[in-house]
Amino acid sequence: MRIEVFADYDQMSAAAAALVERAVSAAERPVLGFATGATPIGLYRALVARHRAGALSFSRARSFNLDEYVGLPASHPQSYRSYMRENLFDAVDFAAGACRVPDGQADSLKAECEAYEAQIAAAGGIDLQVLGIGTNGHIGFNEPGTPFGTLTHVATLSERTRQSNAVYFAGVEAVPKRAISMGIRTIMNARRLVLLASGSSKAEAIRHTVSGPVTPEVPSSVLQLHPDLTLLLDRAAAAALDGVSA
Ligand code: F6R
Repeated sequence: MRIEVFADYDQMSAAAAALVERAVSAAERPVLGFATGATPIGLYRALVARHRAGALSFSRARSFNLDEYVGLPASHPQSYRSYMRENLFDAVDFAAGACRVPDGQADSLKAECEAYEAQIAAAGGIDLQVLGIGTNGHIGFNEPGTPFGTLTHVATLSERTRQSNAVYFAGVEAVPKRAISMGIRTIMNARRLVLLASGSSKAEAIRHTVSGPVTPEVPSSVLQLHPDLTLLLDRAAAAALDGVSA
């Protein structure tokens, strides 16, 4: 595990963009895994800026998102498809159909989960997966207690996660209760992982990720077992780590 600590969010985001850019140039048909939420917004802003400057093209790349709410149409403003369109997809040059987000309105959610895994495998696996982290250590929507062997599945959001995400909806009652999420094994199968965390609310989860026991009660703790993980943190998110400074 590599840990890099940055003075602020913008520097962390720039470092993440540099890693994505390297992954795009390193492969003939790069396969990227994306996350949503507040944390990677700066990363996507930096990637769009590089693209607009003529320095980065996604025309050969494909992508898979970590998750999507069940029951929201793709066009819903709070769907993760809408988030990705707004923050990245519509601003850069991915080929049509190159970006996959789970379909939270599929007739058969089970078939959609299986198809998602099959498509990741058919693409040759994910070269670089971007991750955020929940305050409870969730990755994707793999909440505490999710078995490490889980593949893409229908996940039930914890109350804590629904409360955290309520700011994006008209109150907690409007937050969907379920999501399709890559499983922990799906995430661990990616060749490279980069986890971003910003702010003091993530400090405890980061401490558990780095040095806590590896347990399904803290899903991110499994990342200790990944052979190629980079943690990009701002100072506040790194504050509970021993002996790490920016
Ligand atoms: C998003 C995702 C989640 C978030 C996590 C942190 O696709 O899978 O695990 O990464 O909830 O969210 P933020 O960045 O909003 O704190």
